[in-house]
Amino acid sequence: MEELTPKQTVEELDKYIIGQDEAKKKVAIALRNRWRRQRLGDEMREEVTPKNIIMIGPTGVGKTEIARRLSRLVDAPFVKVEASKFTEVGYVGRDCESLIRDLTEVAVNLVRGEVRKTCEAKAHKRAERRLLDLLLPPRPAGAQRVFRPMDPSAGDEAPARHSPEEEAEARTREMLQKKLEAGDLDDREVDVEVRDTGQPAMMQMFTNTGMEEMGINLQEMMGKMMPQRSKRRKMSVGEARKVLKEEELEEMLDMDKIVPMAIERTENTGIVFLDEIDKIASKGSQGGPDVSREGVQRDILPIVEGCTVATKYGPVRTDHILFIAAGAFHMTKVSDLIPELQGRFPIRVELSSLGTEDFARILREPKNSLIRQYQCLLETEGVHLEFTDEAIDEMAVICQQVNEETENIGARRLHTIMEYLLEDISYEANERAGEKIVIDADHVRERLSSLAEKPDLKKYVL
Ligand SMILES: Nc1ncnc2c1ncn2[C@@H]1O[C@H](COP(=O)(O)OP(=O)(O)OP(=O)(O)O)[C@@H](O)[C@H]1O
Ligand SMILES: [Mg+2]
Repeated sequence: MEELTPKQTVEELDKYIIGQDEAKKKVAIALRNRWRRQRLGDEMREEVTPKNIIMIGPTGVGKTEIARRLSRLVDAPFVKVEASKFTEVGYVGRDCESLIRDLTEVAVNLVRGEVRKTCEAKAHKRAERRLLDLLLPPRPAGAQRVFRPMDPSAGDEAPARHSPEEEAEARTREMLQKKLEAGDLDDREVDVEVRDTGQPAMMQMFTNTGMEEMGINLQEMMGKMMPQRSKRRKMSVGEARKVLKEEELEEMLDMDKIVPMAIERTENTGIVFLDEIDKIASKGSQGGPDVSREGVQRDILPIVEGCTVATKYGPVRTDHILFIAAGAFHMTKVSDLIPELQGRFPIRVELSSLGTEDFARILREPKNSLIRQYQCLLETEGVHLEFTDEAIDEMAVICQQVNEETENIGARRLHTIMEYLLEDISYEANERAGEKIVIDADHVRERLSSLAEKPDLKKYVL
């Protein structure tokens, strides 16, 4: 398993997230530690438990964004859940163990995808062979078809050739195969027998209705019980190649091998991001929703601590799963979490609130910056949008100003500012196709300063 070094991880995160170096560093170290643990001897490996992280910071400074980017970076099973989604066992809502079930599901899909890739070439060859059979002219009744070796590594055996007819057919086959591989026959129509995967409507009724706790997928179960049906469909050779390949791939995927691999992955490299953890902290008051909040914390506790969760793929141990929690902790503090849970998150990192310079960088630097997003959107209408450097600086200043004077919502304020700034252009873009529009500092001031002078209005609009 190849993994990024801490520095590489931070570098990758830097492409999307401005500042917050401390948090990036801690997350990167935690990731690398899992890789290091994998390299230890059996005995020591069991001893090393993950150092769970809790990220604390005001709203809109990049907590969730770090998790989102991280998930795309690692090829480890990763789930992100809002802690507020969970309820104590017995209340309406999701029970905490379901997040481990989700994680296992993610791992299964991950491993499945990887195994699929390794089977791709073989499946392609098998599909081509089936296609070839369909394309060859039918032989006289009773006669056996000659198979040419397609892929000796796949266990295809070279048949002995006998009669002249068989020799002739083998030659036709070879010729057809060449054409098929070159894609010359892609437009020809063939009659293909495909598996009918459509489920009777009645069966859908049973599923997804409170069956979650059982961890059983009824639809899958029923699907296996029903006999495999097939139906004939007319399609082009090009399409048939895809359909048959898909069928072959499905056949080659051996769940008996995939599942243990996926469970192993979940247990040793799984990462759970628990967002909005502050929402389940309570200040020790009694009654009301707080009762259930504390209950949720108690339910999460064993999972973070290490327990065995029953999933439909089998039991999964959570001892070595890495937990990263995040919360704004506006109304509550980390110390409002029950002590046992606090203790399970030994690494704390505070994300700083963002300032004018950060906003300017957030607008400029990330690959997917807001500015680039709007440029691309308007480009679809044929409008070329540009921002001068001064305009961007001005937007950052106004963003900071509004955040100070009203609520501080961090970088999210940029969204409202951009939207308001470009409202008219967005409205008329279709009529301005072919134009190049340059937004300069004056434009920004004109559009936004009028608001800045009316504090009341500003509160609602930006
Ligand atoms: N440091 C940053 N660099 C780049 N973009 C950022 C940064 N911080 C926030 N953003 C942008 O702001 C938006 C909100 O950020 P994010 O979702 O990470 O907030 P959060 O810290 O999770 O806040 P909350 O506590 O409200 O959930 C995202 O769309 C992200 O693009
Ligand atoms: Mg968030």
